[in-house]
Amino acid sequence: MHKEIGHNAQNNVQAERQPPTRVISISSGKGGVGKTNTVANLAVALARLGKRSLLMDADLGLGNLDLLFGVQPEYNITHLLSGAKTIDEVLVKGPDNILILPAASGVQELTNLTADERLSLIAHLESLSVKFDIMLIDTGAGISDNVLFFSGASHDIMVVVTPHGASITDACALMKALLKKRGERSFKLLVNGVKSRKEGLEAYRNVVALASTMRLDISVDYLACVPFDENVRRSAARRMTVMEAFPESKASMGYEELARVVLDLPYPATMKGGMQFFWRRTFDAANRA
Ligand SMILES: Nc1ncnc2c1ncn2[C@@H]1O[C@H](COP(=O)(O)OP(=O)(O)O)[C@@H](O)[C@H]1O
Ligand SMILES: [Mg+2]
Repeated sequence: MHKEIGHNAQNNVQAERQPPTRVISISSGKGGVGKTNTVANLAVALARLGKRSLLMDADLGLGNLDLLFGVQPEYNITHLLSGAKTIDEVLVKGPDNILILPAASGVQELTNLTADERLSLIAHLESLSVKFDIMLIDTGAGISDNVLFFSGASHDIMVVVTPHGASITDACALMKALLKKRGERSFKLLVNGVKSRKEGLEAYRNVVALASTMRLDISVDYLACVPFDENVRRSAARRMTVMEAFPESKASMGYEELARVVLDLPYPATMKGGMQFFWRRTFDAANRA
């Protein structure tokens, strides 16, 4: 099943000609705002634009990315970290050639990982010879070490909010923690579950206003908004992403727009080939932890 993931000299040659893998973490202050749906649907939308994604379910306790894709992973990240399984055995294939590194279900908190275990995880990912255009990390909600670690190790930190006050307050608390503990100053905002584009922009302005009141020296860029759409829940009940089940729905249009915006993001100036920049930052973060 995972044959094509093994080491392959030709892949490596191709990889050197490819642009680097952009690593994006998807976080939120509050749970249930739509992170997992964002990761899954963004990956499908990117695939439709010819881009290949690797998804890491880093929401270890509550990981459910596999459910949305209707796949049943035999193994998960804990088998990889214990050395029981190789990364080729742990990765599962979703639709459109999307690869998923599944989370455990409440067995072990990633926050308990030692610096060595984090570095081992990095080494496993680095050993993949298949290259990806984008790596999306579903970090889970809140300001646990898990979230801070993966957000700090990404090129871009996408923060998901809904138009509701609590999610905006908690998003600002998350950005404050990332600023104070990781020195992160640049964030990208996705507003999910909006009634209108106007409501999305209002939520963005509310985030910026609150960050300013809290005297956070950060920049927050508006990415896109995804409409509230019952088809999201309906498709999840069918173990599918809304992009697959209802491609013409309002929500699918939102995810498609998000994919286009993500592909237009400028690459960080210091980024080199492969996932090097991600690894270097992860290494720094692991050593600081
Ligand atoms: N745009 C949307 N419209 C309607 N329901 C949504 C939308 N996005 C997410 N949901 C629903 O909200 C709930 C939480 O979504 P999920 O992606 O699991 O959030 P998180 O990963 O942040 O906890 C799910 O029941 C999902 O179906
Ligand atoms: Mg989730």
